[in-house]
Amino acid sequence: MAQTPYLALYRKWRPQVFSDVIGQEHITSVLKSEIKSGSVSHAYLFCGSRGTGKTTCAKILAKAVSCENSSDGDPCGKCPSCLAAENSFDITEMDAASNNGVDSIRELRERMYYPPSELKRRVYIIDEAHMLSQGAFNALLKTLEEPPSHVMFILATTELNKIPATILSRCKRFDFYRISPESIAKLLKKIAEAEKINLTDGALLLIARLAAGAMRDALSMLELFGRDKELIDEEGAAKILGVVGRGPVMKLLSAIAKKNTQGALEVVGEAYDASKDMGILCSETGESLRDLLLVKYTSKPEHFIEASNDVIHQLKEMAESFTRERLLYCIELIEETQNRLTRSSFSRRATFETAVIKLCDPLLSTLPEAIIDRLSAVEEKLQGDFTVQQKEKEFPKPNVVEKTTVAVEAPWEETKSEEPALEEKPAQKKAEKQETARTSMVAYAEFLEEVKKKDIVAFSMLVDGHAQLNESNVKLFVNSAAMFMLANAKSRDIIQTCLARVLGYTVEFEMTKMKEEKKEDLPDLNL
Ligand SMILES: Nc1ncnc2c1ncn2[C@@H]1O[C@H](COP(=O)(O)OP(=O)(O)OP(=O)(O)O)[C@@H](O)[C@H]1O
Ligand SMILES: [Mg+2]
Ligand SMILES: [Zn+2]
Repeated sequence: MAQTPYLALYRKWRPQVFSDVIGQEHITSVLKSEIKSGSVSHAYLFCGSRGTGKTTCAKILAKAVSCENSSDGDPCGKCPSCLAAENSFDITEMDAASNNGVDSIRELRERMYYPPSELKRRVYIIDEAHMLSQGAFNALLKTLEEPPSHVMFILATTELNKIPATILSRCKRFDFYRISPESIAKLLKKIAEAEKINLTDGALLLIARLAAGAMRDALSMLELFGRDKELIDEEGAAKILGVVGRGPVMKLLSAIAKKNTQGALEVVGEAYDASKDMGILCSETGESLRDLLLVKYTSKPEHFIEASNDVIHQLKEMAESFTRERLLYCIELIEETQNRLTRSSFSRRATFETAVIKLCDPLLSTLPEAIIDRLSAVEEKLQGDFTVQQKEKEFPKPNVVEKTTVAVEAPWEETKSEEPALEEKPAQKKAEKQETARTSMVAYAEFLEEVKKKDIVAFSMLVDGHAQLNESNVKLFVNSAAMFMLANAKSRDIIQTCLARVLGYTVEFEMTKMKEEKKEDLPDLNL
């Protein structure tokens, strides 16, 4: 069977030259001039948030250093070196998430002294470098100190703070920026046109905004739209993406402002019935809370908030109902909830509803912001009874509140959260099924990409399969050949590691023989 389109877009459109990498000109221009002048370093560290081009640039750089005919610092893509680079043993991509031990680095060190077999340089790309163990970092340090002249290291990480200073000081560091929505939209437009995905500029901008700076996420979203279909506008795209939009979010915030729990839960219910993703609703609520905070803290919020005058006016009105402390509390709680939503196998709706109940009633929280909000309310009451200390009610500045991250825990939550807060109707169940299907499609595609990095055979065995994520385990549906080929401990280990990487937690998995016709029966869960 052909490869899934989910993998295709971001692999197919991975830039092959620096000039095609967007939003990172501050990096690509330096790398290009280093290639041109032949002054490349022996160790680089690429850091920055996910999906912004770190691995892409590492691959281009690895190719460019050996290219025999590079033009303006870009690899030509045609010379024998460029062609060989695609599959050369001289370029090693190592995933530190699964090879994080000292042995992996030792093995690498032993081999690096041999001269490259077909390229000018041996390049080691160490992805997720922050995952290396202390021992591995120590071993790497020695290597970085005096590498043979034909060796180059490129470390990539999303978590710079976990890289020891000793390593940092030996690498040339580049910080990858989140890509602006405008740049993402421009590239998306080009890709959508080439792929015959018909979206209006408004729809493309919406995707670009939701991608929050990650081109890979934007391309994953673009995958959700069919090819050769009628033109889809922003509203249509919002539906397909399960975006909630300002309207319902403002309604939700207005209910929260009034501490109207029932009203707030009704908004969540409506969004759920309309198949909106609870994760997206949560992040959009977080965005609007941030807007409210800006309204509180700045005199010209319109300079910072991307919204119509109408919405700014509404935000200003709504901000009156919130104390600063309560806003901080709400934002903290939303962040916490967002993390929970990505980890939890428990009903996403119930998770979000629990948060909404707490948002409406800070009494239920132990967060410092909630406690200060309650104190503020007491102060306000006291002001009426005793000599007024302050003319206007003034709140302590946020930095007065020592912001510690306290886990949001209310004893009732564990017991209550066993059951979904409201009875689920069949329509809701269907919506949840669709939501799960969409998530598992994207997750399976990411999982395949991880497997491919480690074991091409395992990848080819899994590429026709599909997966089902249950509460605490994953069912992989594969053909009989794959059942046989992947039964060994090494393959199982790779699968387990890749699943954990994609899901963010360790799960058990089992392989089930897939019925050939099953793929058609369950198109939503297939890839
Ligand atoms: N700056 C960019 N310009 C063009 N395309 C990009 C850019 N960044 C990412 N992409 C697209 O996203 C895909 C994934 O990017 P890449 O693997 O380079 O991200 P990354 O920064 O290494 O992310 P991670 O930290 O998750 O490994 C690329 O194949 C490409 O299609
Ligand atoms: Mg990467
Ligand atoms: Zn070349």
